[in-house]
Amino acid sequence: MRLQSHTLKSLGVDGVNGGMKMKGIVVYDTSYGNTKKIAETIAETLKESGIEVDLFDVKDVKKLSAKDCNFLVLGSPTRFGTLSLQSEVF
Ligand SMILES: Cc1cc2nc3c(=O)[nH]c(=O)nc-3n(C[C@H](O)[C@H](O)[C@H](O)COP(=O)(O)O)c2cc1C
Repeated sequence: MRLQSHTLKSLGVDGVNGGMKMKGIVVYDTSYGNTKKIAETIAETLKESGIEVDLFDVKDVKKLSAKDCNFLVLGSPTRFGTLSLQSEVF
C-alpha cells in the first residue's frame, strides 16, 4: 500500500514547524496485522515528508507526554462498532 507523500507536500506539510523538525508518534493496536500495516504506511509516508516519526504498538506504550511530539496518530481496529479496548484505554 502506498500513500502519496506529494499530497502531504501540497498541503504544506514539509516536516518543519517554525524552523524545528516536526516529530510525530504513530500508535496502533492490532490483532491480525491489518492496522499495523496501515500504521507502518502512514509512518513511512510521514518520514518521506521529512517528519521524524516513532511507531509503537499500543501494548508497548508505557507513558507519553504531549511534549514528546507535535502530533499523534492513533490507529485502531473496529471492534463492535467502536475502538478496540486497548485503544480506548490509551
Ligand atoms: C471481535 C471483532 C469485532 C469486530 N467488529 C467490527 C465492527 O463492528 N465493524 C467493522 O467494520 N469491523 C469489525 N471487525 C473487523 C475488524 O475491525 C477488521 O478485521 C480489522 O481490520 C482488524 O484489524 P487488525 O487486523 O489490525 O486486528 C471486528 C473484528 C473482530 C475480531
